[in-house]
Order: sequence, then structure tokens, then C-alpha cells
Amino acid sequence: MEKLNKFQKIINKIYYLLFIENFKGKLKFNFPLNYGRIELIDYLIKKNKYTDYLEIGCDKDQLFSRVDIKNKTGVDPVSGGNIRKTSDQFFSNNKKKFDIIFIDGLHIYKQVKKDILNSIDCLNDNGLILVHDCMPDSLSKQAVPRYRMQWNGDAWKAIVDLRQSNELDIFTCEIDQGIGIIRKSKNTSILQINKPIKKLKFKDYFENYKLYLRVISLEELKKIF
Ligand SMILES: C[S@@+](CC[C@H](N)C(=O)[O-])C[C@H]1O[C@@H](n2cnc3c(N)ncnc32)[C@H](O)[C@@H]1O
Repeated sequence: MEKLNKFQKIINKIYYLLFIENFKGKLKFNFPLNYGRIELIDYLIKKNKYTDYLEIGCDKDQLFSRVDIKNKTGVDPVSGGNIRKTSDQFFSNNKKKFDIIFIDGLHIYKQVKKDILNSIDCLNDNGLILVHDCMPDSLSKQAVPRYRMQWNGDAWKAIVDLRQSNELDIFTCEIDQGIGIIRKSKNTSILQINKPIKKLKFKDYFENYKLYLRVISLEELKKIF
């Protein structure tokens, strides 16, 4: 995980609060303590008899080493996984197809959106894309540029953006910092918002996150997937 220089942290914080947004509301989520990304991925692999897994952003293999599946590919420019590249470098000449893809690399909107679109191109029929860190509870946890260690980034904006597309069906499960679930099929609930993504603020998310992200519980997820 990227280390944050103390001085840079202060500069980023001042810049963000002065020029981007300053909002104090905090959300309270009920993320289950005993069911997170490892359990969800295991459930989906077993239920769908998946054999090919791709993880973007592996860090210390906290997740990668625990995914029980026939073929695993893990991409990270710094540590973990089995391919030492950025996601862009990897996708630019990848020829493999995957059943389940976990996106957890650089958590900024444009990169997450790019990772999702590249993942769609190498997803098998009936495959699923999962996106980590879609539900920040506070402004500081989603601020870009980043100014704190515990950070989700603004991956949520990629979900809001693609929820407006006809071709992708997207939900967000309220577990483990919010996990977006994307399948390549007709959108069964197209999101309509009257603001371009670049104008969206944390306050908009704070007030509308359930609708924006199409939030579902774990129980609901298991009825759908
Ligand atoms: C939050 S950690 C991943 C944690 C891991 N997936 C887990 O579940 O515990 C994010 C990782 O993304 C990596 N990363 C940063 N930029 C990236 C990029 N452009 N492409 C792929 N990985 C990236 C970082 O090196 C870091 O190891």
C-alpha cells in the first residue's frame, strides 16, 4: 500500500477542503463483521463453478492468497499477485478471459472506470466483475487527492457513471466497504441523474447513495446471484 508523506497529506487536505468540498456528514453502514470479500468471492466461485480469477491490485495478497480457484491472475505494479504491471499495462496485451474479476487497484474514478471497461472485454459469458471500496462513509475517506491512510477513494463515481448505461446491470452490496457487482446484461434499473459526474460531490452521494449505487444487502445479493 502506498505510503503517504506527512507534508503531502496536509497540503492535499487543505487543497481539498478549500477548493473542492468541505462537508461534515458521516454515514453509518452495517458491514457484517464475519462476511467480506473473501467469503463473497468464495460463494460466487462455488455457486457458478468458476475457474478463472483476476485480481487488480493485490497488495500483500491478503485476498489473492485466499481465493480458492483453479487459475488465478493477480496484477499489481508494486507487490503481491503474479504479474508486476499496472492494470493498464496488463489489459493492453492480455489475451486471457476470466469468470470473476476483483477490481481493487488505484481507487480513483477515471482509473476504476477504465478497469471496469477493460474487464468487460475479457469477461466470460455469465462472468462477474466486483469493485471494492464503493461505499466511503465520510468525505475524507473518498477525497481525491488522498489525505488519509484509511481510504476508499471515489470508486463510487465509476458505479454512478456506469449505472446510467443500458448494457450493464450493477448493484452494490453493503459488505466490506461496499462491493460493486457488475454483470454484462441489460440494465434492469437505469439510474437517471441531472448532474455530470465531474460535478458530483460527496454531499450528493451522502444524500442519494442508496439510489446511486443500487445498494443491496447480502441476503438480497444471494437471491440475485
Ligand atoms: C487496497 S490495495 C489491494 C488490496 C487487496 N486487493 C485486498 O483485497 O486486500 C491496492 C493495491 O493496488 C495497487 N495499485 C495501485 N495502482 C495500481 C494500478 N494502476 N494497477 C494495478 N494495481 C494498482 C497498489 O500497489 C496496492 O497494492
